[in-house]
Amino acid sequence: MAHIPVLMKETLDILKPQDGDRILDCTFGGGGHTRAILDASNCYVCAIDRDPDAEKRALAVKQSYGSRFDFIRAKFSDIADLFTEWQKFDSVLFDFGISSFQVDEAERGFSFQKEAKLDMRMSKDGISAYDVVNTFSEKELADIIWTYGEEPRARQIAYEIIKSRKVTPIETTTQLADIVREKAKSPAMIKKYSKIDAATKTFQAIRMFVNDELREIKEALEKLPKLLNNGAKIVTISFHALEDRVVKNWAKTAKHYIVPMSKSVIKPTTEEIFLNPRSRSAVLRGFWYNELGDEKRK
Ligand SMILES: C[S@@+](CC[C@H](N)C(=O)[O-])C[C@H]1O[C@@H](n2cnc3c(N)ncnc32)[C@H](O)[C@@H]1O
Repeated sequence: MAHIPVLMKETLDILKPQDGDRILDCTFGGGGHTRAILDASNCYVCAIDRDPDAEKRALAVKQSYGSRFDFIRAKFSDIADLFTEWQKFDSVLFDFGISSFQVDEAERGFSFQKEAKLDMRMSKDGISAYDVVNTFSEKELADIIWTYGEEPRARQIAYEIIKSRKVTPIETTTQLADIVREKAKSPAMIKKYSKIDAATKTFQAIRMFVNDELREIKEALEKLPKLLNNGAKIVTISFHALEDRVVKNWAKTAKHYIVPMSKSVIKPTTEEIFLNPRSRSAVLRGFWYNELGDEKRK
């Protein structure tokens, strides 16, 4: 299934791409937002993604838009090293999390609904979900599942993982999901979990840990100002309260030069959620970059 870009209209309403603008899309994915931005004006977009498969999809965009588009395979925490001070941007977009391509391709090992070897690495390198599940200590596993999944049964799940892997390594997504479901369900939790699979939080936690997702966001946002022209617009789309918390904390710490566009967040309409259920937890924030800072603005 193709990836349906989330909060597309709202993103364009904020970025308002103008002819000649230089726009940085830090999360290319399937290029949905990138294409819409390129179609909205005669602007230039540089897109980043850490996933080698995204790089293949970017070739098609390059063919259609030529010199108006470039792609760099990189982690967005490395943005400060990718551009010189003459390559600043007028707008930046972050659409966090994973794409439908990553979830739907069973062999990437992200989805508990599809049988595959445990993996979950966006960059296809480094430590995998298999390594975490089969080599980390019970305490480390419990901490990960609690911290990144906010799973109340983290300890019991970690205990069960250790017990199972002593018998045989936990090789696949469905193997792990079955172990987790067994422990994550209790009569008290049934109501809470009635709408989502009991394995959801544990899978999300392991994915966030494997890809170091929160540190990635924090580092990228901290490095961002170096790349921005004065008055640049920044859009973040978070799918999880933990991601959004990193954005909020950054905006608070950087409040002298990062100006929120509104006090409230933008969420998908009922219609968008109906058409694209994946959008239901999305939260969009818009900011301006004020290079002069509070002092010089007075
Ligand atoms: C939600 S998808 C973006 C979808 C895209 N906006 C579209 O319309 O197709 C998020 C993408 O960001 C990438 N990503 C996540 N964390 C990243 C990071 N730290 N550095 C670079 N890319 C990252 C993922 O690989 C994924 O392709």
